[in-house]
Amino acid sequence: MVSNVNFWYQMNGIYLFAAIAMAVTSCAGEAAARVSVLPTAGVWPDSEGRHVNAHGGNVIYADGAYYWYGEQRPERGFTVDAGVSCYKSDDLLNWKEIGTVMSVSHTPGDDIESGCIIERPKVVYNPKTGKYVMWFHLELKGKGYEAARAAVAVADSPEGPFRFVRSGRVNPGILPMNLSEEDASAPFDYDQEWWTPSWYKDIEKGMFTVRDRDGGQMSRDMTIFVDDDGKAYHIYSSEDNLTLNIAELDDSYTGHTGKYIRIFPAGHNEAPAMFRHGGKYWMIASGCTGWDPNEARLMTADSIMGDWKMLSNPCVGENADKTFGGQSNYVFRLPGEDDRFIAMFDVWNPESLANSRYIWLPVEFREDGTPFIPYRAEFDGK
Ligand code: DGJ
Repeated sequence: MVSNVNFWYQMNGIYLFAAIAMAVTSCAGEAAARVSVLPTAGVWPDSEGRHVNAHGGNVIYADGAYYWYGEQRPERGFTVDAGVSCYKSDDLLNWKEIGTVMSVSHTPGDDIESGCIIERPKVVYNPKTGKYVMWFHLELKGKGYEAARAAVAVADSPEGPFRFVRSGRVNPGILPMNLSEEDASAPFDYDQEWWTPSWYKDIEKGMFTVRDRDGGQMSRDMTIFVDDDGKAYHIYSSEDNLTLNIAELDDSYTGHTGKYIRIFPAGHNEAPAMFRHGGKYWMIASGCTGWDPNEARLMTADSIMGDWKMLSNPCVGENADKTFGGQSNYVFRLPGEDDRFIAMFDVWNPESLANSRYIWLPVEFREDGTPFIPYRAEFDGK
């Protein structure tokens, strides 16, 4: 079955055009629907006509359907009074709201008390335990972005409810695999001025890793990546957003094993989105400019805990130096496909985060295997 649909949406008196071309193979026995989605700068209405409120999240394919999880943001303000949303779809285009699948608490003092900040929730399925595991970046109520915690919740079904397990900094007391005790014993000058050449050198040498060693590493923007061997990894912006960490999760996916590396110290990378293709690991990230778009970065490695190399901006075309107005979020591999990935971006609207938009684009590959992401008005998914 092949269908083409054009939608006109009206918002704030302005008509926004979204053309959506959808090609769905409906042959019985096919692993998944073949779908094409327009990366829309406009409203993405759910089955009730309301703009999808699932920002900074991810998509999984489970029990024969797609699930889209994300930050349920208020119309105004930055804190959370509901939790994490979930939407369900057969075709990646038409989404039905399931509701709040991870709810904030109304008990004063709880980690996820209403008024906290929840960002970049990611859900993965653990075949060993049969559980759905959600990780997210948590900031405690009334503390701005100071807590820099990772939080985990677990559910028996993709539709939740997700039960909050715990939150905290990551791997307390443990040094990364690529920082020796000897490096860590360097006499760091914590009183020195930030952003000076000697400060950068000390950051590279692990000054903030050592600073945070006892309490655990800071964890803000984050993603979860499950490798082909079933091992899962938590990738997060650490050290005051200066350095990325890649930390192995245990078999339950709900805790860390203590094995982790730091990459691109002082590189100021946020919004990590990892995938594997052609025997290599790839990661898209952004720079750190708050809610404003900046130029995306691409990184690669042969081994996830190995040496990572920085490449150039994967985005191509008009406004590529600003990631088409968006910020990387997640790269979703279409089920049953080795070569088809959708890169998800958020177009943030800090005046009304609920009204932030989405850009979804197919990832393409050059002859040498390097991924790139051209802007397209639509894509046909073939
Ligand atoms: C950029 C991050 O990527 C977002 O998730 C959010 O934390 C904003 N910064 C807040 O300014």
